[in-house]
Amino acid sequence: MKRDFLKVKDLSLDEHVALFRRAAQLKEARLQRRVVKTLRSRTLVMIFEKASTRTRLSFEAAMLQLGGNVIDLSATNSQLARGEPLSDTARVASRYCDVLMMRTFGDARIEELAANSRVPVINGLTDGGHPVQIITDLFTVWERLGEVKGKTLAFIGDTASNMGRSFVEAAGLFDFSLRLGSPEGYLPGKDVLAWSPNNVRCFHDAKEAVQGADVVITDVWTSMGQEAESAKRLKDLHGYQVDAALMARAKPKAFFLHCLPAHRGEEVSAEVLDGPASAAWDEAENRLHVQKALLEYVVLEAEKA
Ligand code: CP
Ligand code: NVA
Repeated sequence: MKRDFLKVKDLSLDEHVALFRRAAQLKEARLQRRVVKTLRSRTLVMIFEKASTRTRLSFEAAMLQLGGNVIDLSATNSQLARGEPLSDTARVASRYCDVLMMRTFGDARIEELAANSRVPVINGLTDGGHPVQIITDLFTVWERLGEVKGKTLAFIGDTASNMGRSFVEAAGLFDFSLRLGSPEGYLPGKDVLAWSPNNVRCFHDAKEAVQGADVVITDVWTSMGQEAESAKRLKDLHGYQVDAALMARAKPKAFFLHCLPAHRGEEVSAEVLDGPASAAWDEAENRLHVQKALLEYVVLEAEKA
């Protein structure tokens, strides 16, 4: 069956747990230099309408290491740039490949791609969410703490961003406690908070938000596509930096996550990002292992049909 992964809840909790177990196996295999070629001769097409380093590298490396191939259909030099509808692009591209991944702006675009694709579609970030990053972050929590359920995650800064939205979506499904710390105007709307009504608490005081946190998380203050608002965002979010003083108010062994790219001196201090409590570099590595498990799952499920 064709299973798209456009948002966290497109997979059940059991499926996510199975993915985490598989990602851990694949991580171990790579550590031991054991070759795993479960996607031999399959092809991934990637479409980027926004910049990327980690998503591009980790999806490409994942597919190649699993024995598959990758085609990067840059939106700027394909017919998409000359106005060919995305629906037609999906119809054609999905006849050449086994799985599609897209990074774009509005969620309607990735939904249009999925609706017109014969093969599974994976969301590589939209304005509305970053599900592959969130499941990687939760895998990193699971790997370090043995469990996601019942843990306390504090997300500080622009929590109305794609990252914040996907964390809210995941909180109810995984049953962790999510504490959001943002200034006025930077918390998710009521419609988003309703996705996990029992698991999310909102604060305007960052110090209060990190209390009891096992994990402290932040993201850039200006997401891709919001560059025109950058000066206002810097001003509004001033005081919401994750620095050593804020980390000290979380649990003593709390660790720090950032999806990257990071702006040292804005949403996070260099001391925290580059310090011993930072799991951001393991988190970035885990994109590879988690996405391998996801690619394997959706491609092999689609072949069962
Ligand atoms: N975290 C993340 O998605 O990074 P890129 O924007 O570099 O892909
Ligand atoms: N919220 C950020 C995430 C980058 C991976 C953005 O959308 O730019």
